[in-house]
Amino acid sequence: MKKSTLGPTYEEMLHPSKLDASLRKQALAAKKDELDPMNLFNITWKKENNEVNKVVLPKALTGVDANIVVMLGKDFPSGSHKVGPAYSTLIEGYVDGDIVPGKHTILGPSTGNFGIGVSYICNLMDYEAVVIMPDNMSKERYDRIKGYGAKLDLTPGTESDVILTLEKTHKLSKDPKNVALAQFELMPNYRFHRHVTGYSAIEAVKGVGNGRIACFASAPGSAGTLAAGDQIKKEYPEAKIAALEPYECSTLMDGGRGQHRIEGIGDKMCTLIHNVLNTDFIALVSDEDAVRGLKVLRDGVDVLAEFGVEKKQLKAMRDFFGVSGVCNILGAIKMAKYLKLGPEDNVVTVATDGFDRYDSVMEDLENRYLETEDFVLRRWFRDIFLKADTENVADYRSAAQKEKLFKQKENDWLKFGYEQAYLDKMKSMDFWDEEYEKIYEYNEKIQALRNH
Ligand SMILES: Cc1ncc(COP(=O)(O)O)c(C=O)c1O
Repeated sequence: MKKSTLGPTYEEMLHPSKLDASLRKQALAAKKDELDPMNLFNITWKKENNEVNKVVLPKALTGVDANIVVMLGKDFPSGSHKVGPAYSTLIEGYVDGDIVPGKHTILGPSTGNFGIGVSYICNLMDYEAVVIMPDNMSKERYDRIKGYGAKLDLTPGTESDVILTLEKTHKLSKDPKNVALAQFELMPNYRFHRHVTGYSAIEAVKGVGNGRIACFASAPGSAGTLAAGDQIKKEYPEAKIAALEPYECSTLMDGGRGQHRIEGIGDKMCTLIHNVLNTDFIALVSDEDAVRGLKVLRDGVDVLAEFGVEKKQLKAMRDFFGVSGVCNILGAIKMAKYLKLGPEDNVVTVATDGFDRYDSVMEDLENRYLETEDFVLRRWFRDIFLKADTENVADYRSAAQKEKLFKQKENDWLKFGYEQAYLDKMKSMDFWDEEYEKIYEYNEKIQALRNH
């Protein structure tokens, strides 16, 4: 049997400093060649100095007293943290004997970054991969996936685009040769983010404000990232978790299913792995605000400097965010205002990827507007950042609101053959804690096979 290259355990992704010193050294050296399989050991939020890769946004930019801490996903191998769930799902399948190199083709249902992660991991670990995704995502995404050697299976980008990729994935999964890394359904995505992202978020606020987390705000695609909130709440029970949605596609809030421009989020469903018990608030961010906000951060250095944001920091931040990262920042600002947070309070959010896959989105913006000169960017900055309001935030803490989300989940998943009894189990936190606890077993299994 062909052997797969084995990478890190969950614990090593959280703490790469725990890797054997020579292994860590090889991993860091591999950053020069992204197709070196040693890069598996660079799947982590940590920089070379073992600190979380993050930025605390200048208050002159956010306009709020609270500290907005953004964890940066762009330096993960393949350019987004979505490689973490892709790797975790593949390695769990491998150590369980369900995914066999040379025998199985890997399917990656995605809106882009997960597909990029899947194709990248499959390149490093030597599997054939097919990425199933809508045909209306940014061009940069398709180029990357093909560049890593995976095949693309595109579904029409329509009203229910991600549901179509799911249907296609379920159809192709009937062939025993195919195994789907089903990010919307499988728990390794939850485990990766609850453990690796959750604890990294907890570390990220050390030395910032009161060192605690008052709010974690994140826009779900698969809702994997939101799982970090489950661990944050264990550490800081007062923390509020906000799920952000595009205003144009407010599926969780009120069943809205419109097209929108924030790639990677707003997938028109309540995903199976979304622990709605811990979703306290749902807040909406306009897609055009996220795209214009990215333009401001990208090209508004001079304008923002007029408002007191340091030029040096602005220049450093130009590459840090994609559209969903800006959506998360705007959602974090909204939540800081809504929760009336003060200068000691921290709101944590995430930038899943960086600017490198959004040139075409900026070009499109230029084509849609007559002018994007400084006077326009100045207006956009004031309106989008400084005048951010607290409208379109809904409190989802009551039993009645939770029931709405459970129902949404049933509508989305019973049709794919999941049993009502399984969905009912998800109504208890015990279900999520038991799923999380499996990381210890997988840590051991991965380690044992690596030493073999
Ligand atoms: C750019 C971008 N932002 C946000 C998300 C959402 O992350 P998650 O799937 O963990 O909810 C994704 C997911 O693919 C993404 O690609």
